[in-house]
Amino acid sequence: MTKAAVRAHTNIALIKYWGKADETLFLPMNSSLSLTLDGLYTDTFVEISDTFTEDQFYLNDVLQSPEETAKISRFLDLFRNKAGITHFIQVKSINHVPTAAGLASSASAFAALAGAMNRATGLNMDLETLSTYARRGSGSATRSLFGGFVEWQKGTSSEDSMAVPVDDASWDIGMVIIAVNKSAKKISSRIGMKQTVETSPFYPAWVASAEEDLLAIKKAIKARDFEKVGQITEHSAMKMHGSMLGAETPIIYFEPDSIKAIHAVRALREQGILCYVTMDAGPNVKVLCRLSEAGKIKEMLREYFSEEQLLISGPGQGIRPLTAQ
Ligand code: DP6
Repeated sequence: MTKAAVRAHTNIALIKYWGKADETLFLPMNSSLSLTLDGLYTDTFVEISDTFTEDQFYLNDVLQSPEETAKISRFLDLFRNKAGITHFIQVKSINHVPTAAGLASSASAFAALAGAMNRATGLNMDLETLSTYARRGSGSATRSLFGGFVEWQKGTSSEDSMAVPVDDASWDIGMVIIAVNKSAKKISSRIGMKQTVETSPFYPAWVASAEEDLLAIKKAIKARDFEKVGQITEHSAMKMHGSMLGAETPIIYFEPDSIKAIHAVRALREQGILCYVTMDAGPNVKVLCRLSEAGKIKEMLREYFSEEQLLISGPGQGIRPLTAQ
């Protein structure tokens, strides 16, 4: 097969990945765990042909610069080398996620590209092995190959730092995403985590507590204890941002509206509605909640945010093939 198309959904980490042990291989300092989301995804079409004279990368129908394409080419090389292919490749990606707004668009993007390359080259690796390839595009992409709750086990090498499915999340769970600011983030995750690892005195505490939180959240997921899952999620996000505040220079992704959202969620909890916040490398706030209560929570958040800023999402599925064009 020389053409393939794959859809991958984005994921939001409940136990965050923050910090690399190896920057080239994208090996993380700690294991992480996420929820794959419905409705936010990337569709990627690849074509391998001896008629191409260079790699081409189109994002949302726009041909990307040589610099952007070079990043993609390096990723494609992982598959070319493994499959013994030397041809150039055309990649067309359509993002159904606000790009670079802290909604982990790189996760769905590299998961979809890995999935499409796996099919187009005929390598047909199993998803766990494929996740070790997706990882080399962006760490969070490792987890987007699977649906539901997914663990990225940090492993001991490039071969075993992989994603494994934990639970299909087919229970009452979802998220309300508060798009505080849809414009591109100011400090990339890559730079932000490097600065935190190298300069924050709180960083070792982050790594130690992430491992404990991972064990606790897996237990809570197994028991379907939503309250516990939510508490651990919110605490993990705040600890990650705490480690960033200790960096030199401090990394601050919070904006005034992020803080407003956090307090609004606390107020909802005081009214007996179980919901918990998490935030990534950007100002947007994601509210983990019962999917059955998401509509009500969204209505209540309308006091502070516009209809366009609020998005409900349920659990999403893993990568799946699309009809190649
Ligand atoms: C805060 O996966 O975007 O969203 O591996 O450098 O591409 P790179 O970073 P990326 O980092 C994600 C960080 C996070 C937490 C998470 O998703 O686990």
